[in-house]
Amino acid sequence: MIENQVSNTALWTAYMRAYHTRHAANKVFDDFLAYDLVPGDVRERIEQQIIPDIFLPATSSVVSRARYTEDTLEKAARQGVKQYVILGAGMDTFAFRRQDLMKQLKVFEIDHPLTQEFKLLRLADLGWERPENLHFIPVDFTKENLEAKLIRSSSYDPEARSFFSWLGVTSYLTQEEVLTTLHSITNIASSGSTLVFDYIDINEFNVNRLSKQIQESTEYLEKIDEPRKTGGFVSSRLAEDLAGSGLNLVENLSPLDIERRYLKGFTDKQHTLGYMNFACAVIK
Ligand SMILES: C[S@@+](CC[C@H](N)C(=O)[O-])C[C@H]1O[C@@H](n2cnc3c(N)ncnc32)[C@H](O)[C@@H]1O
Repeated sequence: MIENQVSNTALWTAYMRAYHTRHAANKVFDDFLAYDLVPGDVRERIEQQIIPDIFLPATSSVVSRARYTEDTLEKAARQGVKQYVILGAGMDTFAFRRQDLMKQLKVFEIDHPLTQEFKLLRLADLGWERPENLHFIPVDFTKENLEAKLIRSSSYDPEARSFFSWLGVTSYLTQEEVLTTLHSITNIASSGSTLVFDYIDINEFNVNRLSKQIQESTEYLEKIDEPRKTGGFVSSRLAEDLAGSGLNLVENLSPLDIERRYLKGFTDKQHTLGYMNFACAVIK
């Protein structure tokens, strides 16, 4: 992301969840708070910049990953997970929306300092009451040590079973930053903790393979000042690479798997991004 700037894509993805919640005939995810969380002037700016061929598939991907994550988290909560760490939380509304799960979880929102500050100001403007078990921890993954900050500045318990989500972040980091963050997660998470994330197979950026969709979205992200740094994984090697970092791969959903699971009955244009994968892994 661009230095000294609130993440544009965090506002866009919240707008996408709001748009889907208000307009979708087949609702994959119900983020009934996202509309209010995105300030009116930001919504207007986004509406002027929408390109349907990019916006609709990206929206399908954003709501599917949110659904995948919260379904997986619900299962983990039934099995006793006590902490939920949202990495690159952006305008995530989980802590305000899921009071059912908040009864048993401590939630830690980790995000770039400027984006988190923007969110905190917006929450204050809205007058939403902040749950006691919600903690905000500013971390720039490119400069700071996640483990140190999480342990130092909060009531995070490294011994407790935790659930980590890392959505819409990996491609905004370099490959090295992705691996460093992954390493921090495994250092700080107890055995049996879960990580859910989405990623682009880095082979998709190979010039001989570049699809129109990936090319257009990459250009678009440059235009809205949040270029991809294209960190990610290679899907066929994911199990091996995660194992090397101390994680067991549980599930690796391809774009087609995602379509089949969440997007039946969607029109062609609403179909998801043909290059986004979701994965779930457990810390050894
Ligand atoms: C596409 S948004 C996704 C937000 C949210 N996870 C979602 O699904 O709506 C990318 C998020 O990654 C965060 N991010 C990007 N680079 C970061 C960095 N270097 N350190 C911390 N957070 C970063 C941004 O602040 C933003 O909240």
